[in-house]
Amino acid sequence: MDHFAYRPESQPKADRAALYCEQLPAEEIARLVGTPCYVYSKATLVEHFRRLTDAFAPLKPLVCYSVKSCGNLSICRLLGELGAGMDVVSGGELFRAIAAGVPARLCVYAGVGKTDVEIEQAIDAGLGLFNVESEAEFENIARIAKRKNAITHTALRVNPDVDPRTHRYTSTGKKESKFGVDIERAKAFFRLYGRDPHCRLTGIHLHIGSPVYTTQPYVESVVKAMALVDELAAEGFTVETLDLGGGFGADYETDQSPTLSTYAEAIVPLLKDRVAKGLQIILEPGRTLVANAGILLTRVQYMKTSGEKTFVICDAGMNDLLRPSLYQAFHFIWPCVTDIRFSPQRRQKEMSLEGLRSMDVVGPICESGDFFAIDRPLPPVARGDLMAIYTAGAYGMAMASRYNAHPLPAEVLVDGSTLSIIRRRESYEDLVSHERIPVPVVTG
Ligand code: LLP
Repeated sequence: MDHFAYRPESQPKADRAALYCEQLPAEEIARLVGTPCYVYSKATLVEHFRRLTDAFAPLKPLVCYSVKSCGNLSICRLLGELGAGMDVVSGGELFRAIAAGVPARLCVYAGVGKTDVEIEQAIDAGLGLFNVESEAEFENIARIAKRKNAITHTALRVNPDVDPRTHRYTSTGKKESKFGVDIERAKAFFRLYGRDPHCRLTGIHLHIGSPVYTTQPYVESVVKAMALVDELAAEGFTVETLDLGGGFGADYETDQSPTLSTYAEAIVPLLKDRVAKGLQIILEPGRTLVANAGILLTRVQYMKTSGEKTFVICDAGMNDLLRPSLYQAFHFIWPCVTDIRFSPQRRQKEMSLEGLRSMDVVGPICESGDFFAIDRPLPPVARGDLMAIYTAGAYGMAMASRYNAHPLPAEVLVDGSTLSIIRRRESYEDLVSHERIPVPVVTG
């Protein structure tokens, strides 16, 4: 579900269809703010958030939006206003969350390499929960908390050794992963640290991977985690919080992902009674909230043929959206204005429409890995056409870089027929402003 749809154009171009984000034509957005440009639909984002909270309502979870998926302040602020806390993985993300108006006590902080400075700042800000990834890290947080005479709360990130059946770069819950500690070591961990007066160890954290397109890995890991919770209880350790992490899917193709209700139907029954007895559930969704709420608009600069190949050369590249290059991820791509018979009813890898031709959609970056699609059947495309790259709201702008000295793209938020620039396009001056004046540190 999203609010990006094709509508027939009015006379005399009634044989054409144009892509709209809510009430605004994509072409108009591109004319106003230029390309490349990330476009987010507020209605889509709000609906996804509501679907999640409705589906999981029996567990009364604290929904901590995963800032890493799309950290734009306006997006974080919007979700914060809807009641979300934030899942952060760095001092910078905590800073973003707080800048967006989300109180630190509603933030959970994961990540294997938290620095002393980041830990101090998080404690000072009044962080809700550290998700601790190793013995060494726990000892460090405890040392810092003691020195500050503070009390901080922690959950142990447990590695349940469940296969999420996703890309190996984004699979995190298997034994060989760098994240968390093996579930077998969890009891020893609680025996060692479970009575620390400054660093209170009161939770279990799971995050098995992203995206996870079946419910079974969640079921397996929750069952394992609850068995652990019972064993810990028998030893006198009360687990107050279970953080299930993120990983719910998004529709890169139409209906690709289980719905949020389907995930909830599998997970809620396993935890409902526990919640009634006081267990606090945390969810850390990123992709499932924001992926389908965003598209990347890019303008075709040139068409080029080479042997059998046709290249659509765009002004966006792997610097703007890295996922195809890094994970061979599929993103549906379509021209924003097209003959009406090509207006797509469903978004799929294989589009069964007469008259499509196979093309590579590529960027301007000097790497052969700079592509959005290889051998993709597309309607006729010409220089100057505007293209939409779908499902780009999560891990799109968040992983963008300035490679080849391309300024970062603009981000805009559409609310009905209102358009707001929520991140201005960077300028060439932005590219060099940190380098203009060399700062001598050691002078000989
Ligand atoms: N919690 C933790 C501890 C995480 O590491 C992540 C994502 C999330 C929550 C949010 O997961 P989500 O609900 O968004 O699936 N760059 C990759 C995805 C990396 C995910 C990293 N961790 C991509 O573009 O697919």
